[in-house]
Amino acid sequence: MAKKPTQFKLEKRLNHIAFIMDGNGRWAKLRGLPRHLGHKKACEMLRNTFDNCLEFGITTMSFYAFSTENWNRPQDEIDHLMDYLEEFFNREIDYLMSIGAKIRISGDLSRIPEHTRNVCLDAIERTKDNASCCINICLNYGSRDEIVRAARAVAEEYKQGKITLEEVDEKYFASKLYTAGLPDVDLMVRTSGEQRLSNYLLWQNAYAEFVFTPVKWPDFDREALIDCLKEYQSRNRRFGGLKNE
Ligand code: IPE
Ligand code: IPE
Ligand code: MG
Repeated sequence: MAKKPTQFKLEKRLNHIAFIMDGNGRWAKLRGLPRHLGHKKACEMLRNTFDNCLEFGITTMSFYAFSTENWNRPQDEIDHLMDYLEEFFNREIDYLMSIGAKIRISGDLSRIPEHTRNVCLDAIERTKDNASCCINICLNYGSRDEIVRAARAVAEEYKQGKITLEEVDEKYFASKLYTAGLPDVDLMVRTSGEQRLSNYLLWQNAYAEFVFTPVKWPDFDREALIDCLKEYQSRNRRFGGLKNE
């Protein structure tokens, strides 16, 4: 008999969850499969994760799909990753429309192969008026790169006399990041047991709670998400003050 799904209600404010989808290669290796099949399975898992987050009322989700450092991998693995991403959008775009998801891409798309880039741009365009939830895919994304770009954009506006130095505050700077308009990250989840940020959302994670789970991303199901949310719910968030949130 199938196990009954766990009942869970999220009772702590959680606007933005960010995932580092790690462990695909190890997941495949454990099964005697080529690494890229781990990435394939990872992309197939995404839809479930959207559904699960929405079930718990989380409406902004970020996913680390490819870092600025992932270009250091073998070309064959990179090619597979791009293909699976394309397949993901082609397969899921109607579903994304049906749940009212707005797709954002954070990262420098100019280095992404043209065909994959066009599929991404098309998904952004098609979903731009959706407002039920936001799915932010971090692709060729690196936080340091993002911050340097933002600094350059601010410097350029200053040079052109569009802003004064006094106008450059945290809010203004954040508006130059890829994630402009998205709320700060409340919960950052990294799968596969690694405990580091790997250049992910350094600014946006300033007051995020971090949860590291040993579960590898291709196995990260509803139960695994609930475990992370329970852990999040047990934390005291103080934001430098004395009150617990
Ligand atoms: C994460 O899985 C996906 C990407 C980095 C694109 P990995 O490919 O890093 O899997 P492991 O860490 O080698 O197991
Ligand atoms: C981080 O995972 C990047 C993504 C999940 C896309 P990595 O597997 O590339 O990170 P490191 O190299 O272990 O830090
Ligand atoms: Mg990894």
